[in-house]
Amino acid sequence: MKILITDGLEPEAISTLRKTHEVDVQEVDPKGLLDVVAGYHALIVRSRTIVSKAVLIHAPKLKVVGRAGVGVDNIDVAEATARKIAVVNAPTASTISVAELAVGHMISLFRHLPEADRSVKEGRWEKKKLEGRELFEKTLGLVGSGRIGAEVAKRAQAFGMRVIAYDPYLPAAVAETLGIRLVEKEAVFREADVVSVHAALTPETKGMVAAAEFARMKRGAILVNCARGEIVQEAALADALRSGKLSGAAVDVFDTEPPVGSPLLTAPNVVFTPHLGASTREAQARAGSIIAEQVLTVLAGRRPEFVVNPSVYG
Ligand code: MLT
Repeated sequence: MKILITDGLEPEAISTLRKTHEVDVQEVDPKGLLDVVAGYHALIVRSRTIVSKAVLIHAPKLKVVGRAGVGVDNIDVAEATARKIAVVNAPTASTISVAELAVGHMISLFRHLPEADRSVKEGRWEKKKLEGRELFEKTLGLVGSGRIGAEVAKRAQAFGMRVIAYDPYLPAAVAETLGIRLVEKEAVFREADVVSVHAALTPETKGMVAAAEFARMKRGAILVNCARGEIVQEAALADALRSGKLSGAAVDVFDTEPPVGSPLLTAPNVVFTPHLGASTREAQARAGSIIAEQVLTVLAGRRPEFVVNPSVYG
């Protein structure tokens, strides 16, 4: 069968797929994808390619869309389901990488690392100005505490932080095992010194961190978003930074990527990374091998472990 990979994939995963199938690796633009997708039985993407309804309509042979990563917000899953196309992802691939990046951003903000680096390189020695804060005995508030949030919690606890979370889907018994106190959404923002977002982008979470949430936060608290840009309202975050309500923010993800024209680009005390959460050798290797296995399973006519739309299997 024929497999199209549009956003690159680990070479080992491509070799695995090539053992039994014909594989094309082609970075196509949205129009180009509509032109070529008809010939393929499997499509493997990361976050760059948008697998829209139009793409799925143009792909009568498609049996599976593989997302070499976690979030499937770039795929029209409802349309795929209606067309009996399985959508598979690699939900465990980047857990540790994203958790490490989030905690790295917390330390970086509390100790002013980007500013300190710039200051020394520019010939200054600003020890007083760059005085930081410890994570020790501060409260971390998680917005969403699935796989990634749980790993962030473990690392934060190792630094002596208290961890609270708003997650309507996390069973109380699991939270207890993780040492996380489950609270209402308002309490996360009211009590936390550090708020870290780890929810999936869904209609429920889109825009859920807005002006009202920033108004509730402690003066001087920080926000870290390594989840999805659209969960946090960018203009409201920029205002909270400008007013000094928040002392800093770390933003790995944006409404549109790259973030041309985002109000955050001119806001003070914000540290950016270009959607690097899953960008480690380890996470990419895992994503490649997991997604290759999932796609091969579907093409072999079997039900894969990480199917996002299980109803296609009845
Ligand atoms: C993911 O959902 O896998 C990560 O955010 C990484 C990505 O989208 O590339």
